[in-house]
Amino acid sequence: MAHSIRDDDGVSNPSHNLNLDQVVEQAIAAQPSRRRLLLGGLGVATLPFLTGLAGCGSDDEPAPAAAAAEKMLGFTAVGISMADAVVVPAGYVASAFLPWGEPISPTAPAWKADASNTAADQEQQVGDNHDGMWFFPFNAAGNALGDRSDEGLLVMNHEYINPEYFYAIEAATPADDWMAPFTLEKARKAQAAHGVGVYHVKRHADGAWQHVKASPYNRRIHGNTPMSLQGPAAGHALMKTAADPSGTEVLGTLNNCANGWTPWGTYLTCEENWNGYFGAPTSGATIAAGFQDQKADIIGGQSRYGITKEGFGYRWHTVDPRFDADVNPNEPHRFGWVVEIDPFAPASKPVKRTALGRIKHENAEMVIAPNGKVVVYMGDDERNEYIYKFVSSGTFDKANPTSAANRRLLESGTLYVARFDAGATTGDAMGTGVWIPLVQGSNGLTAANGFASQADVLIKCRQAADRVGATMMDRPEWIAANPKKAGEVYITLTNNSRRGGSPASSNNADGTTSAGGARPPVDEANPRSNNVWGHILRWNEAGGDGTALTFTWDIFVMAGQPGITDARKPSANINAGNLFNSPDGLAFDSFGRLWIQTDGSYANTGDFANMGNNQMLAADPATKEIRRFLVGPSGCEITGVTWTPDRKTMFINVQHPGEIGSHPNRPKNADGSTLTDNQIARNATAFSQWPNKGERPRSATVVVRRTDGGVIGG
Ligand code: FEO
Ligand code: CA
Ligand code: CA
Repeated sequence: MAHSIRDDDGVSNPSHNLNLDQVVEQAIAAQPSRRRLLLGGLGVATLPFLTGLAGCGSDDEPAPAAAAAEKMLGFTAVGISMADAVVVPAGYVASAFLPWGEPISPTAPAWKADASNTAADQEQQVGDNHDGMWFFPFNAAGNALGDRSDEGLLVMNHEYINPEYFYAIEAATPADDWMAPFTLEKARKAQAAHGVGVYHVKRHADGAWQHVKASPYNRRIHGNTPMSLQGPAAGHALMKTAADPSGTEVLGTLNNCANGWTPWGTYLTCEENWNGYFGAPTSGATIAAGFQDQKADIIGGQSRYGITKEGFGYRWHTVDPRFDADVNPNEPHRFGWVVEIDPFAPASKPVKRTALGRIKHENAEMVIAPNGKVVVYMGDDERNEYIYKFVSSGTFDKANPTSAANRRLLESGTLYVARFDAGATTGDAMGTGVWIPLVQGSNGLTAANGFASQADVLIKCRQAADRVGATMMDRPEWIAANPKKAGEVYITLTNNSRRGGSPASSNNADGTTSAGGARPPVDEANPRSNNVWGHILRWNEAGGDGTALTFTWDIFVMAGQPGITDARKPSANINAGNLFNSPDGLAFDSFGRLWIQTDGSYANTGDFANMGNNQMLAADPATKEIRRFLVGPSGCEITGVTWTPDRKTMFINVQHPGEIGSHPNRPKNADGSTLTDNQIARNATAFSQWPNKGERPRSATVVVRRTDGGVIGG
């Protein structure tokens, strides 16, 4: 998530031979007792996939003795921090890794501390604003997916850029505008810093991790990398552009927020605030010739998805016509998708999976239902948006995880959107819910209402969800499925400044409400007016089955200030020692510990007093105890988390240290006046010098380990 140039989170305005099956089969034959471990090694976290799969779950063999000693929350909580540093519990160490600008190969250009690297340089360097991430362990041969904890591919999203730190001040830069003169080269450099990075990483005997630069797997996928459009929306008229009359190939993936991963060894990257890169200077009034017959869909979509005259201020549309939505009005339809990438095949072309719908995607959490269908849970991160799930048409072949058939499971299926009802009692923070199918021809999704095909439903996904009466949520962020309880799923609802606003309004059924424009009244699942702190909700699918059409739900935690006793009061699992706001990143480790990451206010005053810098906490799903584990440096958010299969290394990301935005603790001049953006851009170390003292701040991964070599958190 992001804040950005003005709140990027939209608040304002060789081959495929993974041989996984062979790995598992050989291991079982050699040493049956290791079966459980190996299955976990498909990403340890593979366990969510397996819940409910008879014979493949985690309960068919006795747990190893070592696991019995592992505690759910076995670390000493850390206090809040306002330091420009990463703080971890006693007995843990944290070190920065793979910062923005690091060369990805032995021949890539070095990072320049004055930010004067070119666009061509940036295409060969680590991207900016690290976000969602997954560790794909190598096999013994080091050439395919396996279960090793000492070497693999760390794949991560690079969500956006902070222009104030991203561009060098040039001789031609005017005194009052650090981004000027804005050129195509600057836009290209920014585009090159977006997308995804595949980084070959290896652990040494002393426990330290190294980026293996001389590796064919290191790869940058960025804002101009060719990728395929696949699924029901591919080739639709609304996907066709002058540059791509077939509507099947698009350049780039943008605003890659959170992520997912599959048991067939691919990475899923999710396009979130892509709207902010487009500008529509005439708001569609002068839409390009050739698109007049699509005008209603184009202009309606610009409003519903938040495409404005000037975008978020990145200026790309002023130099790169692809991002001028008046000139190329269908280009925005080619963003907002989940993109599948095979990290083990460096020459493979990423694929945008349109069957999963076009929204502002946060993450894509996959589970495998008892009947073998693949279920993908997804949130649309904007105020008053919805929660979705995709259920595949085909079924997962668990005997052959990396089969060609499994690799096609995201091509077709049914998309659903959630409605949260109050249940038998109102006011008890629990209720019932329904998954409503978004299928053309049903529930009012008819040609007369603008949905002539399933492609229309998927491209205009928000409008389709408006039509069927989905529940407007407080900004749906990450979704995490409990690996120890089939069908139990958690979501962070980060905050909502418009909840309970006046006059009350809801998203119109005809899809005409502008992005974030409604002021929905409080409801059972979103019970706090002006929800500045956010909450975490969980649901249990009927029968523990991810394909169920009904569920029950309850609120796991309402964040907030425990001293408050009015309607805004937090839930009982909040206490003086674990205050936080704006939960965002959310993931289970394979032990069943829930990790919570924040992207909120670090003002540490008023509503946010005693919350400090953004942080990471761990929670016990059974007792609801929440304990603070890590605090980030100044101005950052903590996001993205993944583990080695043995869980002895945890990787997290520190995004946008030194973010200036509009936060109240933005740095001040000696006379008390607030530094302008321009001043900060000209003194790039003003607010944070993380991770390298004396340099401009850089987003980076953080490697977390225990000094005794134990499992993280236990
Ligand atoms: Fe990129 Fe909703 O966080
Ligand atoms: Ca996020
Ligand atoms: Ca209720």
